[in-house]
Amino acid sequence: MSFHDYHEPFVGSGAIFFRLYREQKIRRAVLSDLNAELIDTYLAVRDCVSEVVKILSDFPHEEQFYYDIRTKNPWKLSLPERAARMIYLNKTGYNGLYRVNRQGMFNVPFGRYKSPNYLDKKNLLAVSQALQNVEILCVPFETVLERANPGDWVYFDPPYVPLSQTANFTSYHANGFGLKDQERLRDVCIELSRNNVYITLSNSDTEIIRSLYGSAYFAIDEVLANRAINCNGAKRGKITELVITNYPVEQTLQLRLLERHAPYFVLNAR
Ligand SMILES: C[S@@+](CC[C@H](N)C(=O)[O-])C[C@H]1O[C@@H](n2cnc3c(N)ncnc32)[C@H](O)[C@@H]1O
Repeated sequence: MSFHDYHEPFVGSGAIFFRLYREQKIRRAVLSDLNAELIDTYLAVRDCVSEVVKILSDFPHEEQFYYDIRTKNPWKLSLPERAARMIYLNKTGYNGLYRVNRQGMFNVPFGRYKSPNYLDKKNLLAVSQALQNVEILCVPFETVLERANPGDWVYFDPPYVPLSQTANFTSYHANGFGLKDQERLRDVCIELSRNNVYITLSNSDTEIIRSLYGSAYFAIDEVLANRAINCNGAKRGKITELVITNYPVEQTLQLRLLERHAPYFVLNAR
């Protein structure tokens, strides 16, 4: 099986995109997310990476500096300053978490790293290279309906349905992502399937997701995934997640599902 363009409407850190890029599987890509600061970081790294590197190189690794820069309103900074702030907070904040308060302000405490690598110049330049010719948009996931054409491939990694009431960690964006959003996302997947667009979606192994995708359009696979971000250290490790596809996944490849970003569901670029 092969695909034309690649779309990732909940791009986050873009783990799958960068893996596919490394494997030279991407011809054209559209990456999007509703988090405007994140998207601006992508845009700055794509379009003015040397400025971002220059700003980051002036940032010290100090707790007081962390809180000073955390307090700054990102929308009063220039694009490269905003990106440098985001990268710095992400690399030096507690456990690499991203969390905002109701006003949309980043509120993760200072992390206890000895020497965090927030100025990884080589990597930033490589990321910038990977993003050249990539369309980067701050839009809600539904926009993919206007962009994806038959033969394209869309990978959805939305905020997950919580495993329990207490694991309510779905508020990546100040507005959260509730059941209505999950239902809308399922409807988008059906519409894309009708239009012969390949879709892959990951989510938690929950009854809600099994029932939302329990129709003839989709195949549901269980995979073992690494859970690196959990405030409870004991809960870090491997758990089952679901991967939903609207195309057949080879049995042999399904057996390789021991890491979250295993490319078992990867199609080949046409
Ligand atoms: C689970 S994370 C994606 C993780 C990503 N695959 C990675 O490798 O880091 C979910 C992402 O969805 C974004 N998001 C939340 N609601 C959204 C919406 N309605 N439309 C588009 N993106 C949304 C969040 O900003 C967040 O970056």
